[in-house]
Amino acid sequence: MADVVVISKSIVRPESYNEGSDRVKIHLTPWDLFFLRSEYPQRGLLYPKPDPETQIISRLKSSLSVALKIFYPFAGRLVKIENEDDKTASFYVDCDGSGVKFIYASAKTVSVSDILKPVNGTVPGFLTGFFPVNGVRSCEGLTESLIAFQVTELIDGVFIGFGYNHMIADGSSFWNFFNTWSEICLTGSNRKEFPPLVLRRWFLNGIDSPIRIPFSEIETPPSPIVDTSSLLQEKIFRFTSGNISELKAKANGEVNSDDRRISSLQAISAFMWRSIVKNSDLDSEEVIHCKLLMDMRRRLNPPLEKECFGNVVCFATATITVGEMVKNGLGWVGLQLNKTVGSKTNEDFRVFAENWVKKPIIPILPNRVAVSNSVIVASSPWFNVYGNDFGWGKPIAVRAGPGNVTEGKLIAYPGIEQGNIEIQTCLSSHVMEKLSNDVEFLKHACVV
Ligand SMILES: *[C@@H]1O[C@H](CO)[C@@H](O)[C@H](O)[C@H]1NC(C)=O
Ligand SMILES: *[C@@H]1O[C@H](CO)[C@@H](O)[C@H](O)[C@H]1NC(C)=O
Ligand SMILES: *[C@@H]1O[C@H](CO)[C@@H](O)[C@H](O)[C@H]1NC(C)=O
Ligand SMILES: *[C@@H]1O[C@H](CO)[C@@H](O)[C@H](O)[C@H]1NC(C)=O
Repeated sequence: MADVVVISKSIVRPESYNEGSDRVKIHLTPWDLFFLRSEYPQRGLLYPKPDPETQIISRLKSSLSVALKIFYPFAGRLVKIENEDDKTASFYVDCDGSGVKFIYASAKTVSVSDILKPVNGTVPGFLTGFFPVNGVRSCEGLTESLIAFQVTELIDGVFIGFGYNHMIADGSSFWNFFNTWSEICLTGSNRKEFPPLVLRRWFLNGIDSPIRIPFSEIETPPSPIVDTSSLLQEKIFRFTSGNISELKAKANGEVNSDDRRISSLQAISAFMWRSIVKNSDLDSEEVIHCKLLMDMRRRLNPPLEKECFGNVVCFATATITVGEMVKNGLGWVGLQLNKTVGSKTNEDFRVFAENWVKKPIIPILPNRVAVSNSVIVASSPWFNVYGNDFGWGKPIAVRAGPGNVTEGKLIAYPGIEQGNIEIQTCLSSHVMEKLSNDVEFLKHACVV
């Protein structure tokens, strides 16, 4: 285990915060509140070692302050209102300029190669110490900052870990923010050159804000935390552009229909799902799910701007049995994913909201109790991950953290080489062991 020494902890506030114009109130939608008990998603980028002359901490903090002036919701806090009249609670985001957590740390026993070339290809457990908000849940945003950073100096590199509240932003908004921050840090640009943030307007006709959630639903005790760390293992699988086109062609070749086109990500997801199930010893009657986290901005009617800031995602869930999967090929599974994605329409999204308001259900995500019948595909290979140069070089790797939250979680990222896709995969150790030795699987993917 690596010793992580915290050198300093601070709060970075947005530059020239103006109580009058900046103090916006953001109402939360059912899809936001659905994440009330979810842990902050955490990601991190590995960088080469900067020149010792580069004052990276002060540069990062001052540019962060400018970036937060633009992306001011991240610098706010969650507010809870208790409505004693009907025994419900409501939440909103108060963009009050409270600021964000910024930790500066050092791990002087860890080198870049410990992360890039870990023992047996397993994502190392020490990475957990490089993330700033392990185990923090969205509802803790009442006092916790809504985004947090940890910059950890290694022997020969720097790791920038971050976590954000999923009710405030989804991956797409998060990466827009991160791209802006790195650009400000690199170029010293003034915020005036950046377009103002487009906030999500209230687009739910017939649903009043703020939404009221019964105390009884909010107070449901969290499920006991089962420490599954010894049972789970994480590896990163890489698909080269050659692998991707091969799998995509195979999947599409198996479905005789002109009007359906299985995308690259759908083909890779179908391939991962099949390979995992094949190595999981499940009975053929067992019902299995593949959940894809989808950006709904352009699917709404009227559509939201692509850059629209906020959380606008939902899960598209494909449900089949093991027997059906085994009987049918890759193309059939890819087609199920394509159909599921296609079924997420404006109507579907709005019906979910209407039903949710009548009976709010807040799941506990991630569920630490191992569920062996589901895989979740999150993040996206289309996010701009490797373009984030703060002034001392581009990232050399991306990782999700912390180590062991949930079984069946697949986090998709672009590979460092153009056109590659990498999938950080968390599975039961015994399934991972079999998958890592599956000759068929290894014809199309390699362990990073
Ligand atoms: C690496 O894998 C081999 C074979 O699977 C195993 O025997 C060994 O214990 C593993 N080493 C570590 C450090 O996990
Ligand atoms: C797994 O999670 C637990 C609880 O959060 C943590 O203490 C442990 O260090 C983690 N293990 C790894 C390998 O990340
Ligand atoms: C796909 O990946 C495997 C393992 O990484 C490799 O051996 C194979 O040549 C690749 N195939 C193509 C078509 O790129
Ligand atoms: C999935 O199927 C639809 C037809 O319903 C098609 O238009 C689309 O291109 C396919 N691919 C994706 C990525 O949705």
